[in-house]
Amino acid sequence: MKRTIEDVSWSGKTAVIRCDFNVPMKDGKITDDTRIRAALPTLEYLKEKGAKVVILSHLGRPKGEPKPEFSLRPVADALAEALHTEVRFFPSDKVVDDTVREEVRGLKPGELALLENVRYRKEETENDPSFAEELASLGDVFVQEAFGTAHRAHASTAGIASYLPSVSGFLIEKELRFLGEAVSSPERPFAAIMGGAKVKDKIPVITNLLDKVDYIFIGGGMVFTFLKAEGHDIGTSLFDEEGYELIPEIKEKAAKNGVKLVLPVDVVAADRFDNDSPSGIYGVGEIPADRMGMDIGPKTEELYCDLLKDCKTIVWNGPMGVFEMPNFAHGTKAIAECLAANEGTTVIGGGDSAAAVTQFGLADRMTHISTGGGASLEFLEGKELPGIACLEDR
Ligand code: 3PG
Repeated sequence: MKRTIEDVSWSGKTAVIRCDFNVPMKDGKITDDTRIRAALPTLEYLKEKGAKVVILSHLGRPKGEPKPEFSLRPVADALAEALHTEVRFFPSDKVVDDTVREEVRGLKPGELALLENVRYRKEETENDPSFAEELASLGDVFVQEAFGTAHRAHASTAGIASYLPSVSGFLIEKELRFLGEAVSSPERPFAAIMGGAKVKDKIPVITNLLDKVDYIFIGGGMVFTFLKAEGHDIGTSLFDEEGYELIPEIKEKAAKNGVKLVLPVDVVAADRFDNDSPSGIYGVGEIPADRMGMDIGPKTEELYCDLLKDCKTIVWNGPMGVFEMPNFAHGTKAIAECLAANEGTTVIGGGDSAAAVTQFGLADRMTHISTGGGASLEFLEGKELPGIACLEDR
């Protein structure tokens, strides 16, 4: 158990808090503020306890240079609106300079300020100790709240913890509780639903989960590599050659551990990778040579939902098909609906599956939706995240 913000007496102290406000933007506007809303309870708590709050984040990958399109200014505005309070913005191309230091010193208890994108400095991703120290010099306690970036060992996510007492915020606590407990002490049956394009990318997480789950359901683009390994023709569907070589190992481990590896029995395949392409439903042995798989089929939806309904813990990472195209979103939606109806614990790994669940309006029917894409995947792989490992234990 890590120390948390509740273990600190905040009066008169300045919190330097790392959030993950790497939010999707279009034409300078935030298109999904989930990550901003997820940090509100911690920010509200610190404000209420009279801390001065200095907020750090990255946005996108400006590669160590100030680039206006990656400025956090819109985030400061969105944050102020969400918190119904003023959030000062202290912009500097250097992130920290004399003016910023002076402004921070002038903060009053309960005031919040956001600094500019930490990735304007190349020292951030290099985890440069002097940049970490510069950030640390702004406050008294480091608060980690950036679960989505906790898999990165950067100056503001890990390095800074060498210079300040370091504790977790409520979001980190929640992520560790749901993702951690789902994997370490699940109520059974425990199922993992794995989607995504490349088998190779998902091998570490599948391998780790094979020691823990009762079922693994396969969906998404990697279905076709699995089907090929079963001896089926897959037409022009996605094929991951490197991942293909690793499938016998997965099957062997599943058999040894008594894990049921469940594959689709039918799929939707189309002429082209296009929402308006002609398409049809095919049994897994019947995909035409000139068509590509785009989604799981209706019999597969039924099979998966039937098995999932008895599961007490379900972790889902990766959509079932090309859900961004309405004509190929059916499989992903069906799985999202069956998780919404499940009364057990349903945990959604971040990234695309989180976006899908939100798109279908089912987000509040899940037990937990992680704010981390890469981070939740690495967590489920069983890796220690540097942004968590650097925090003090209770
Ligand atoms: C994410 O969106 O996954 C995190 O904010 C990390 O971003 P990064 O992949 O650019 O490090």
